[in-house]
Amino acid sequence: MAIRTVGVVGCGLMGSGIAQVAAGAGYKTMVREVNEAALQAGLGRIGKFLADGCAKGKVTQDEQNKTLANLTGTTNIADLKDCDLIIEAIVENLDEKRATYEAVEAAVRPETIIASNTSSLCITELAAATKRPDRFGGLHFFNPVPLMKLVEVIRALTTSAETNAALTEFASSLGKEPIAAPDRPGFIVNRLLVPYLLDAIREYERGLGTVEDIDKGMKLGCGHPMGPFTLLDFVGLDTTYYIANIMFEEFREPRFAPPPLLKRMVLAGYHGRKTKRGFYTY
Ligand code: CAA
Ligand code: NAD
Repeated sequence: MAIRTVGVVGCGLMGSGIAQVAAGAGYKTMVREVNEAALQAGLGRIGKFLADGCAKGKVTQDEQNKTLANLTGTTNIADLKDCDLIIEAIVENLDEKRATYEAVEAAVRPETIIASNTSSLCITELAAATKRPDRFGGLHFFNPVPLMKLVEVIRALTTSAETNAALTEFASSLGKEPIAAPDRPGFIVNRLLVPYLLDAIREYERGLGTVEDIDKGMKLGCGHPMGPFTLLDFVGLDTTYYIANIMFEEFREPRFAPPPLLKRMVLAGYHGRKTKRGFYTY
């Protein structure tokens, strides 16, 4: 089935970026949020990214206009009815995602493909929660979506070859570089990245150095674009905590366990850049 109309569920950090790149690539794109305030915040993030891109000379006025013209926001899940592909980018929680698929499936056609942007949940388990396990797959984007070239395409045990090919082709059509990643917790990138980020928190708690010095060390010593604490704040400490719990649940290895400090920061509402407080203050 040709993909012409894309629905994105969730317009947070990732959903807004995914909606932006889909609309920018010429797809009629509808993004759904839980309420008007969250929707306006997400659409505002897209508007700002495009405006900043224009100011930097990276986005033309034409591209900005085209992206915005292809993009519609809604709080009503029934509005997704004409979508050929739904990309779910809501909170990293199995029950929330299951409930969302049920609502999405009540709205869309049987042939519509559903993909999850989950960071760590089992794609086969998510697929099994739907009535279309063959038309379900993982499409894992990276933050910030408009700038990061990679998309991991994850095939559940039940994903059909056609669906997998359609998702891979869709990722390419966005100007991204797709790679096939296995349906294992964290896929390829987070399998390696998450233990590193958790280790940075654990070693900081043990007195390895200041947040600033550890970040500086990894930036200037290893050429990373961001040190681990800047990156943790960027990804979201809440999201990192959910991912760590899911990966620990699966592997039962200490390196995936969420460090006590991370848990406490999340409980305190210090979720990183999005709440203006994390390892740094914004
Ligand atoms: N529109 C268009 N282009 C823009 C832009 C905008 N609004 N803002 C910046 N750019 C362009 C810049 O012009 C620049 O382009 P050139 O390289 O051609 O000069 C490029 O994007 C980089 O921007 P900046 O120079 O302003 O910023 P930077 O060099 O500090 O890079 C960054 C920013 C790309 C985010 C970089 O810091 C980075 O790569 N950080 C690490 C991000 C990362 O690791 N992400 C993965 C997180 S893990 C994940 O996502 C998975 C998960 O499941 C948790
Ligand atoms: P976020 O907290 O920024 O945004 C999640 C958004 O989903 C919120 O705005 C929330 O209101 C909305 N939402 C919740 N339930 C919804 C529903 N039923 N319908 C519509 N919207 C709903 O989180 P995020 O960082 O964008 O993460 C979203 C997903 O992407 C998670 O599965 C996460 O693991 C994954 N992911 C995150 C990153 C990252 O760096 N943050 C990278 C790759 C993948």
